[in-house]
Amino acid sequence: MTALPKTFHVKSFGCQMNVYDGERMAELLGAQGMTLAAASDADLVVLNTCHIREKAADRAYSDVGRLRRDDGSKPLIALAGCVAQAEGEEAKRRSKMIDLVVGPQAYHRLPEMVAAAASGQRPVDTDMPAISKFDALPTRRRSGPSAFLTVAEGCDKFCTYCVVPYTRGAEISRPAGDILAEACALAGSGAREITLLGQNVNAWSDGSTGLDRLIRDIARIEGVERIRYMTSHPTDMTDALIAAHADVPQLMPYLHLPVQAGSDRILKAMNRSHSVDSYLRTIEKVRLARPDIAISGDFIVGFPGESDADFQATLSIIDEVRYAAAYSFKYSPRPGTPAATMPDQIPAEVMDDRLQRLQAKLAEHSLAFNRATVGKATTILIDRKGRLPGQMIGKTPWLQSVFVETDAVIGDMVDVVTTAALPNSLAGVLATAQAA
Ligand code: SAH
Ligand code: SF4
Ligand code: F3S
Repeated sequence: MTALPKTFHVKSFGCQMNVYDGERMAELLGAQGMTLAAASDADLVVLNTCHIREKAADRAYSDVGRLRRDDGSKPLIALAGCVAQAEGEEAKRRSKMIDLVVGPQAYHRLPEMVAAAASGQRPVDTDMPAISKFDALPTRRRSGPSAFLTVAEGCDKFCTYCVVPYTRGAEISRPAGDILAEACALAGSGAREITLLGQNVNAWSDGSTGLDRLIRDIARIEGVERIRYMTSHPTDMTDALIAAHADVPQLMPYLHLPVQAGSDRILKAMNRSHSVDSYLRTIEKVRLARPDIAISGDFIVGFPGESDADFQATLSIIDEVRYAAAYSFKYSPRPGTPAATMPDQIPAEVMDDRLQRLQAKLAEHSLAFNRATVGKATTILIDRKGRLPGQMIGKTPWLQSVFVETDAVIGDMVDVVTTAALPNSLAGVLATAQAA
């Protein structure tokens, strides 16, 4: 039995939706009168975990272990996120230090669970009560210049390598009215850019209209200057959404459209439901609508059965699409997913080699993309401080980070001219400085 916590700390480890959940949990605890503190002295620490790749669970337990303090005491510890969902009751057996376990669809119950944990119980809630968590959460209060907004939850695609359909449940779209209300609250508290989130965000639908309609409605909200969305699935990329890229000025010229692999045989084994050809046709349509669009993607190397020829095909699709940015991973077998027990698992050294070659090629293309923008004028939204004094970092419409010397502050929109390119960033000067 301990006193009710007065201070808390939330640490998020996963995707943007996981980060969003972390923010909502923090707002929820804040609404209970608790205040933020460092992990090292908070009364309650929430570990908001990710389960997407191997050793995620082991890492979560070792993070729990590290919360023990020098004097032998420990905070109340909440295991949240996708590892919590996957482990459930098992988490309490694996670590005596964990006081409560809450899944990504149940965290609206956190305050009562914390109270129960403080009174010595060890509650576990991994229910998936569909949409209700959003109804039970307080109105958004905080916002930096750039905010996340989850519009769709879960995934029904069941790619054979992926845990998300198991940890996040079925695909559900939030009602448009709730999303618009949240977008208004975010804009009211300082957000100039809103990124709509979902595991398959482009599958969002209210039954009759799709994500394009939602984007057009959000574009009408006063103060919202930039709109982004991620992650999109190739098979849900509708013509209406593509058209929005041509005629909604607030919709940024950036599309994250993971392909995962460039060989139809592997895509089929992955249950991706798109082919190389259908993917490339979609990219073509998108580029027709918005010629300057930056395309980014996700790649997995070493999926079971991936031959050299399959891997070569992945390198070819990278050359064809010329990705502006990308995330790439070694295939990681996840318990309970079909791919984990497929024959022909790829040896680690082959995967290492392929990943290295893949990343070298991706870096070439992102550098080329960034180089092509050098010398051009653009507007960045300042989102953080740089390491050097007077240096700030902001994002271009194409989501490139630009380092610039300025006395502008976080949240300002600044006109710059870019002067040099690296694979992951650009240097720039203020447009006014250049003109002078
Ligand atoms: N819904 C999105 C993102 C899912 S998770 C999509 O469909 O693309 C983010 C990325 O993690 C995936 O795109 C995939 O590239 C990678 N990933 C998922 N499961 C993986 C696994 N078992 N091993 C390696 N990478 C994986
Ligand atoms: Fe995972 Fe596939 Fe769903 Fe993306 S679409 S979350 S990769 S199952
Ligand atoms: Fe990880 Fe869960 Fe996101 S597994 S990638 S935190 S949906």
